[in-house]
Amino acid sequence: MADLVIDPSPGVTGELTPPGDKSLSHRAVMFAAIAEGNTEITGFLAGEDTLNTAKAVRMLGITVEEKGPGRLVVYGKGLNGLSEPAGVLDLGNSGTGMRLLAGLLAGQDFYSVLTGDQYLVKRPMGRIVEPLRAMGAVIDGRSGGRFAPLAIRGAGKSAKPLSFKSPIASAQVKSAIMLCGLYADGVTTITEPHKSRDHTERMLRFFGAAVTEEGLQVSIKGKQPLRAQGTLEIPADISSAAFFMVAACVVPGSDILIKNVGVNPTRTGIIDVLTSMGADILFQSPREQAGEPVADIRVRYRRLHGATVQGGSIPRCIDEIPVIAVAAATATGMTVIKDAAELRVKESDRIATMATELQNMGADVRERADGMEITGRERLKGATCESHGDHRIAMSLAVAGLAAAGQTVVRDAEWIDTSFPGFERMLKQLAY
Ligand code: S3P
Repeated sequence: MADLVIDPSPGVTGELTPPGDKSLSHRAVMFAAIAEGNTEITGFLAGEDTLNTAKAVRMLGITVEEKGPGRLVVYGKGLNGLSEPAGVLDLGNSGTGMRLLAGLLAGQDFYSVLTGDQYLVKRPMGRIVEPLRAMGAVIDGRSGGRFAPLAIRGAGKSAKPLSFKSPIASAQVKSAIMLCGLYADGVTTITEPHKSRDHTERMLRFFGAAVTEEGLQVSIKGKQPLRAQGTLEIPADISSAAFFMVAACVVPGSDILIKNVGVNPTRTGIIDVLTSMGADILFQSPREQAGEPVADIRVRYRRLHGATVQGGSIPRCIDEIPVIAVAAATATGMTVIKDAAELRVKESDRIATMATELQNMGADVRERADGMEITGRERLKGATCESHGDHRIAMSLAVAGLAAAGQTVVRDAEWIDTSFPGFERMLKQLAY
């Protein structure tokens, strides 16, 4: 088990390009597999989560060739080109991998089984199992289908369209239903309480499918073919960039340029939150890649103040809340994070794990059922912390360590490799 040792930083400076976007990497390999023709993917995240998805796609009879770092060629076989896997599909730690694939498999005319590691099998699957059953798939799993392993007998030709009002703003739920909807005869519609990330909508359009949106409602007509477009370039992950943004905001003397970052408006909540806390953040060279907005982001140190994060802002920064908590712990005044109960069912219970570990570093954090209240301190103190098997908790604590007095040790830091291989090297290059 790996320890990540972090000493106080005199200033985080320089340039970096974080690894490819995780949400887009999962989708790229899955959608290219059901498109007609070959897709070359660049910027693919070589993290454990997305490599597990690529492996599952291979087990469904699709050739996926690795051409170099972050470069894959997927030999798509069209909507009906997948075949029954001979073994269990293991998605490791990835909720996105499991939930999106479940949607895709619910539309097939074959049987498949999905499983994951000790953390993923504890995460709620009822949220996708119920609507996918309503679309005609026969799904079983532990606790009546509430938890993986999930056994899926796809609906195949009898897949039915669905009108679904989702109780949660979840791109994973929305995407699973849309993918099964691609196999149904008719129009499938999903309505969310707040807008979640729209990568599935954008990427399906990139592959030539019509997806319509009206306010919080998304519709997709079934049986539309996807067509390969040659190359699909994936930008750097804003959720990985977030650790460096906050590092620059909490360590005096910092000045960094983060290059080629995906800045889809459904993902830029971190920038809005940090800006509302007083951060100095600039977008440079805005451009577009494969239907997604991209920019370079400059962040210079400025002392932050507390803010309230709630409501529709939450889905736009859901994965960044652990590191926002770090920013809040060193800001002046109080930060309140609410309406974020979803954090309790991520890779770990991120409200409990962040509160425990930040308290361990001397922060003033109070748990709420749906978030946290954090009163900033001038300086945190270095401590030995646990990752709780959660990549984003491990990286958030490493960032806190840069701004703390004394040494910080993050135990079981190998979980970082699920989304950000090379994190330690990049962080240490810029921080010392
Ligand atoms: C993701 C959606 C979010 C996010 C996860 C990635 C996606 O989960 O937390 O890391 O790629 O669709 P929910 O959709 O469950 O909120």
